Amino acid sequence: MTSVTSLFSPIEADLRLLSQNLIDLVGTRHPILSAAAEHLFGAGGKRLRPAIVLLISRATMVDQDITLRHRRLAEITEMIHTASLVHDDVVDESEMRRGVPTVHSMLGSNRIAILAGDFLFAQSSWYLANLDNLEVVKLLSEVIMDLAAGEIQQGLNRFDQNLLLETYLEKSYYKTATLFANSAKAAGLLSDVSREIAEHLYSYGRHIGLAYQVVDDILDFTGSTETLGKPVGSDLKSGNLTAPVLFALEEKPYLRVLIEREFAQDDDLEQAIALIRDSRGLERSRELAAQHAQIAVEHLVDLPPSECHQALINMADYVLSRLS
Ligand code: FPP
Ligand code: MG
Repeated sequence: MTSVTSLFSPIEADLRLLSQNLIDLVGTRHPILSAAAEHLFGAGGKRLRPAIVLLISRATMVDQDITLRHRRLAEITEMIHTASLVHDDVVDESEMRRGVPTVHSMLGSNRIAILAGDFLFAQSSWYLANLDNLEVVKLLSEVIMDLAAGEIQQGLNRFDQNLLLETYLEKSYYKTATLFANSAKAAGLLSDVSREIAEHLYSYGRHIGLAYQVVDDILDFTGSTETLGKPVGSDLKSGNLTAPVLFALEEKPYLRVLIEREFAQDDDLEQAIALIRDSRGLERSRELAAQHAQIAVEHLVDLPPSECHQALINMADYVLSRLS
């Protein structure tokens, strides 16, 4: 299994610096915000998104060191992601994340947590503007719009059995892949790569992000409460019909009945999980994730060979290895 430690070894020092900077960047305007920042940016979290930004930055700055702007972009990327999780945990009423209480449960207030999330979004926009690169500003502000749009789409599609795989993938782009894609492209732009390479980097991020989300959706059925940090079948319970469910619906008609009544009767959810596990849904989803991981790697061919380039290739295996 590809370990995160070996994957991140070329940027180990960069990630250490990033962790400290993230806490400092939130500043000391209010003790609540400092406490939230300590809590969010302290231990935990895989730092996958900023790691990709840093690896792309190094892979595209051949024979030169990365700049403070590349580092700031990585920090902004993690800040946007974290802000979205603060809001998401309120929306999903999740009490725990990464093995620790979520911000709203730590603060004992949804209102303050939403405002703290807003602050993080606003703060990231301010640092983004200070990069003084209009194209990068446009890319990352589009991400913030996409995240909100994706979350709304997911909310509206709850328990919708007629959801197409295509619509699920579109939502997964808005919810997850957009941040991977646009921050990857932005990292390339800060290194002055060609238009063509910038588009390849966007596609790399897009497909890695989709693979990551499909894997996450499989883990909802194959993981344990302990590894997931949330109960098995949480997505399904809340009506979020993901790839394994959509595939399983093609072969298990009774699943439709259970979803239709929104798991209202005892054991409905358990029965639905069993039907999905008994179908080819998980295997087909694994194939779907693998396809996207493969496409991602194909978009790296034009980058010069380097340790960071290799780590970006290995990232695709790492995303899939979360399943084994
Ligand atoms: C995790 O999904 C959530 C996201 C990837 C994005 C959430 C985005 C928002 C709540 C919108 C942000 C708001 C503004 C103002 C831009 P999940 O619940 O499937 O995963 P989880 O198991 O990690 O919670
Ligand atoms: Mg959630």
